[in-house]
Amino acid sequence: MTEIAEIAQLGAKILRQQALVVDDVHAADIRQAIDLMQQTLAGTQGVGLAAPQIKVSKRIIIVASRPTRRYPYAPLMEPTVMINPSFQALSDAKEKGWEGCLSIPAIRALVPRYQRITTQYTDQQGVLRTLELEGFVARIFQHECDHLDGKLYLDRVEDNGEIISESEYYKLLR
Ligand code: NI
Repeated sequence: MTEIAEIAQLGAKILRQQALVVDDVHAADIRQAIDLMQQTLAGTQGVGLAAPQIKVSKRIIIVASRPTRRYPYAPLMEPTVMINPSFQALSDAKEKGWEGCLSIPAIRALVPRYQRITTQYTDQQGVLRTLELEGFVARIFQHECDHLDGKLYLDRVEDNGEIISESEYYKLLR
């Protein structure tokens, strides 16, 4: 059965909370949360999702870069579930790029992110993994990790002039 969760919207307190570390990736509530996240994300134009966005305050993200109307130039990858994710920058270089968020509809902004990172996370089988990411996929990862710390991409915008409506964003893509 396909189940779609309601996505927490800007102003919801859960989006501002520190999410809890997952101790047992095989626990029934964790498996259910991951299923719900996968199904919910598949039903959107999003390229990533964090558990707090479906009102589960646990450190779980999905990174699922794919070309969509929202991000036509996104690289295609298998949706990847990452539990207790963390990262280190591989260089100090940051790049500004456009971001949006399913929790903040109709808005886009330029956000500085590290271009190259090395990540650590536990997969759904409980195996600790490391993965180097760069560019747009590294951006998604950093955006989703922020959600686990109660941070939203608008907090990282350096200039309010770089916050625009989605309709203006689509004009830029033409
Ligand atoms: Ni988001």
